[in-house]
Amino acid sequence: MKIGSLLSQVYKSGLVDAQNNSIVVTHMSDRAMKIIYFSNNSGSRLLKIYSNKKGYYEYETLSFLADYLKEYTVKPDGFFQDEQNTLSVVPYVAQRELNVADMASPSIAKQVVDVLICLHRVKDAREIKLFCEQINFAELMPCVEKSLGLSVDYKDYFNSAVPVVLQRLLEVPQHGDFTFTNLGVRDNGMLFVFDWEDYGRIRWPGFDFATFLASFLHHSNTYNSAVGSVDSFIRMTERKFGSGVYKGLDLDSRTFAFLFPFYLTGFMFLKKRLNYADTIIDRITGMIEYLFKSADWQRFIRKGLN
Ligand SMILES: Nc1ncnc2c1ncn2[C@@H]1O[C@H](COP(=O)(O)OP(=O)(O)O)[C@@H](O)[C@H]1O
Ligand SMILES: [Mg+2]
Repeated sequence: MKIGSLLSQVYKSGLVDAQNNSIVVTHMSDRAMKIIYFSNNSGSRLLKIYSNKKGYYEYETLSFLADYLKEYTVKPDGFFQDEQNTLSVVPYVAQRELNVADMASPSIAKQVVDVLICLHRVKDAREIKLFCEQINFAELMPCVEKSLGLSVDYKDYFNSAVPVVLQRLLEVPQHGDFTFTNLGVRDNGMLFVFDWEDYGRIRWPGFDFATFLASFLHHSNTYNSAVGSVDSFIRMTERKFGSGVYKGLDLDSRTFAFLFPFYLTGFMFLKKRLNYADTIIDRITGMIEYLFKSADWQRFIRKGLN
């Protein structure tokens, strides 16, 4: 990727000073140089480079969301674009990766829930202009059938039961990739949320909580035991995240549990569409299959919520 012209735009803007900087490439990914760290007397900034238009989505999203998310994220400083790439400038926030040990602290679990509740409280979330294209429910089924080879019962679940439940719920734009890899912990113990590229793609309440649980249970190697039965799954979530978690997410616990397999399926679909690594897709597929093979979850899913 050629980023020279973008960088000269950034320098011209004065947001970072081309002189007197220590410049360090902090993040290499398969998309090549992606994150550049700038530091000088006037503070530190990150330049995030995108090889497509997505940078614009993330910049616009964060520009309004940051006001609602307190110290959980930062407002970007600027946005630049040429024919090929986009680039955004954000204040650098010292933080480290979230890990399983952090989850032993009630404070982190509480903040996770608080972030999700903040997203539910974005004023007029439904009216806010969203920059991402929404996932179409109808697109999901072919992917589900191909990946899971579902029995008739689950076709009913996906085709009839889930849409009825979703209709009753408030439309709430979600982060869309709310997992350990996109969460950090700052020196002061505050949770930091980044990577808002997919914000609004999914607008079902509790979706981010479902992906976070999947991530947490995977990293702590406790997924299979945690989802052993529907009731024990619900009890575990309330123990870990507080009994008010579902009310805060405009849901009740049984509705969330009912949607949990569907939410994981939506997540798998998203990852597939965005060409994520097969290992992640296989892992989520395994999680969904595990639920569908459990006699207790089967009963619950067949019976529905009535
Ligand atoms: N404002 C920030 N301050 C400091 N580090 C950040 C900030 N935003 C992102 N990062 C770091 O940069 C890395 C990549 O950012 P992310 O937005 O997740 O990009 P990607 O699309 O490559 O996943 C993250 O793992 C995080 O550690
Ligand atoms: Mg990321």
